[in-house]
Amino acid sequence: MSIGILYERSETDEMGIKLTAEELGINLVYIPFRKVAIRLDDDGYTVRSKGKNYSKVLEEVTVVLNRAQSKNRRLVAANVLETFGRYVINPSPVEYLCYSKLRTLLHFWREGIKTPRTVYVPCDSHEPMADGGEIRNEEEIADLLQEELGNGSIVIKPDAGTHGKNVRLARGRNDLLTILGETEPSIINLVGILAQKFVQKWFYDLRIIVNKESGKAPYCHPTALARAGFKDFRTNTFLGNMVFGVNLPPYIKDVAVKCGKTIGKNSKTWLLALDAMIEVGEDKSFDDEYVKAEFKKLEPSFDALKKVKSDKTKKKAFSDWNKKLEEAFQDYKSQEAYENIKKIIEESVERNKHNILFHEANACPEFWEQTRLAAGINLAVPLLKGAQSVIESDYGG
Ligand SMILES: Nc1ncnc2c1ncn2[C@@H]1O[C@H](COP(=O)(O)OP(=O)(O)OP(=O)(O)O)[C@@H](O)[C@H]1O
Ligand SMILES: [Mg+2]
Repeated sequence: MSIGILYERSETDEMGIKLTAEELGINLVYIPFRKVAIRLDDDGYTVRSKGKNYSKVLEEVTVVLNRAQSKNRRLVAANVLETFGRYVINPSPVEYLCYSKLRTLLHFWREGIKTPRTVYVPCDSHEPMADGGEIRNEEEIADLLQEELGNGSIVIKPDAGTHGKNVRLARGRNDLLTILGETEPSIINLVGILAQKFVQKWFYDLRIIVNKESGKAPYCHPTALARAGFKDFRTNTFLGNMVFGVNLPPYIKDVAVKCGKTIGKNSKTWLLALDAMIEVGEDKSFDDEYVKAEFKKLEPSFDALKKVKSDKTKKKAFSDWNKKLEEAFQDYKSQEAYENIKKIIEESVERNKHNILFHEANACPEFWEQTRLAAGINLAVPLLKGAQSVIESDYGG
């Protein structure tokens, strides 16, 4: 009985999971999910690549860590493997809820978890007609959104997007019409328009890790990853923002566990990265200029870190590169400005903890390069332990 890891491409997260498994003495079996043929017939199923039959390999596997990159591929992989009798982390019902921001928000909302005011209009901004013409719906959609969210700033986002892609801020009617006009139905936004009230957060937001092992209560990690900066209203690191590890107040950990239970439902093992914003409004204990100056001081060490992250050798000499990354992080975290900004965030979170708004659950979070080093959580460990807990609970070890 072993643990499988499924992916289409191995990135640093997957390499990190393998390295961690090695350190823990866990045998991990690779399951490809790209150039393979999955055959179903009267004799059962086979999974084969051009050169190798993976069916036997799969026979040995009880639990699969699903690390396919796209949400669609992950959902398909979970459906296939669960039908073949494997336990998948995350299970397909969890994956299904996380797939769509609206779905996640609906479930949070039903449980009384605070979320940003959200409006969904199940209509695309323009629709092709049979005669080759087009129906334009921007004006009507804008009316509906402004009636619900007011005439101030409105955030428009694709329902299944990641990395902040196409998350846009409309400051007023004209902006809103332009942005709506530019939306297109796509694989990350199948139907309609998802909009939110623009939350008056400060310069940071939070990514909080919750997980459950079989037979244990759900657990919220006491530190979170804060993504922070003044570059954009989106704090995604993809846009050059910085990362900090911050301690969470007990109240937030409790709500995060509730979010986890809401998405994890009856599944015995799962792992989620929750995205949350703190609505601070005007409650800022430092002026922005001071904080910006602190960010400026951190830039050289953060740039050095980014350089290591973009090092081309990382996949070929993973272990060496990983050491370099850890050193660069160490240097970045030892800066006085790092400690200062971290304290400002922690204090702001503590003061405004009751204004935390949860808005997304990520089922396959990236962690090796940031969450692990900034917040001190190597997600490979809870993932592997979760997998082991399923084997133990089902087969007694
Ligand atoms: N309603 C909102 N009000 C203010 N800022 C928002 C709002 N929604 C999103 N943002 C900002 O935009 C960022 C990206 O939004 P969101 O998490 O919805 O997109 P994403 O594509 O899922 O990004 P990621 O993959 O990093 O989670 C958030 O981290 C937050 O900083
Ligand atoms: Mg997000």
